[in-house]
Amino acid sequence: MRIPDPDQIRALHEKHAPTAEAFAGVHTHCETVWSIAEQLLSSPRLAHVDAALVRAGCLLHDIGVYRLYGDDGRLDHANYVRHGLLGHELLAGEGFPEPLCRFCSHHTGVGLTRRDVETQRLPLPPADYLPVTAEERLVMYADKFHTKSRPTRFLTPADYAAFIGRYGEEKVTAFEALRAEFGDPDLDRLTPVLP
Ligand SMILES: [Fe+2]
Repeated sequence: MRIPDPDQIRALHEKHAPTAEAFAGVHTHCETVWSIAEQLLSSPRLAHVDAALVRAGCLLHDIGVYRLYGDDGRLDHANYVRHGLLGHELLAGEGFPEPLCRFCSHHTGVGLTRRDVETQRLPLPPADYLPVTAEERLVMYADKFHTKSRPTRFLTPADYAAFIGRYGEEKVTAFEALRAEFGDPDLDRLTPVLP
């Protein structure tokens, strides 16, 4: 499988971003998520994880957010949870293979289940959207430590556990399993990527 490099992915963001502001917010966040994953990958115990694939996954995972901007330049917050699926569709339309498209559709929260879709009445086709590979899990996990909301900021593991706990204790358990698999990032060693 041919994995796009960061310059090619940046060009794809520029192609699909409706405004320079949207590009700055989404692309910068994607770069920050990669810097978190890259730091975690420096651990020898993650030597089996394909770093080039994780880099592409991090840089692509939120590209579907661009499809949520209306003609008025406003983000459709009510349908925000659809951004993963929209990103999958966007990449498939660009001819990307399924393993790359899946980074978009399988990174929300700590993995959406069919039950989540049904009980929370999410605007998604009922299905499981759980990451399967270590690369998919790492992209999803690294994303949890940085928020795009203004102002952008890093979240500690405790911050994220408190947030996801609102969706049930099993979500905290799933997050703890990811922490055990990938370790905690050292957020103080990360410099925020500036747009
Ligand atoms: Fe993200």
